[in-house]
Amino acid sequence: MGFRAPRSCRFDITEHNVSFNGLPIALEGLRVVHISDLHRRSDQPDTLLEAAVEQVNALGADFVVVTGDFVDGPARDIVPVCRIVARLQARHGVFATLGNHDHRGNPAELTRRLQDVGITVLTNRSIQWTPGFYVAGVDDLFEGKPDLAAALAAVPQNAPVLLLSHDPSILDRLPQDRDLVVLSGHTHGGQMVFRFLPPRLVCRFHLGTEYVHGWFTHGRVRMYVNRGIGVTGSRVFARRINCPPEIACFTLARSGEDGPKAGGQRERAAELSARIVRIIK
Ligand SMILES: [Fe+2]
Repeated sequence: MGFRAPRSCRFDITEHNVSFNGLPIALEGLRVVHISDLHRRSDQPDTLLEAAVEQVNALGADFVVVTGDFVDGPARDIVPVCRIVARLQARHGVFATLGNHDHRGNPAELTRRLQDVGITVLTNRSIQWTPGFYVAGVDDLFEGKPDLAAALAAVPQNAPVLLLSHDPSILDRLPQDRDLVVLSGHTHGGQMVFRFLPPRLVCRFHLGTEYVHGWFTHGRVRMYVNRGIGVTGSRVFARRINCPPEIACFTLARSGEDGPKAGGQRERAAELSARIVRIIK
């Protein structure tokens, strides 16, 4: 926890316990760190993105997930952002899905370069992190080629699964009778938040969703929307007001328990590292 971000790059680090039915006992207490919406752009300094990576690394994650919008648009930003996220560290891997802005440049090149730096991009597919626990990713709903059925095809019906979707509108498309935990971004929390202009209205008008930030539940589906790191918009609007960038930390727990217990979990996590299935990129 030794990293202290510069004053201009202070993050809201949010902590969450997230429980799963049937979570393998070896995964209890593992930490997933989630960031989103880096929006690398050449007219903004990389200081914020670099500080975000350092802050994530200081949290000592078991897994890191990034839910898209690595770049604001142009393909020229792909190499610089990959150079930055290449420094992300996690014991068991870094996983990502693409966002709508990633499709405005060269998503194929972005995917290839992310994979080259060790980040597994889950575009309409899933992997088994360890026997009995899955992570899946779906392509952006409006500017990608989303295939939810393909994303979940290899996940058994009752298996614990973490679904990465850049766009939180996915919540309206998911079967409510299935246990799913979705991590999402896209809204930037409204980016500029004013008392007289609720971000829910801004996001509904601008993005077509009212899932702005925080937890949302439909039936058995739970979804967390992260405010993200970077900004989008033209110069005067490319800033955050009353809406700090966020790094979200999720501690895995088994359903019916009061969150993870303190003792023994790191040891189990260490044992797990030997059993993590090999990920085929
Ligand atoms: Fe975004």
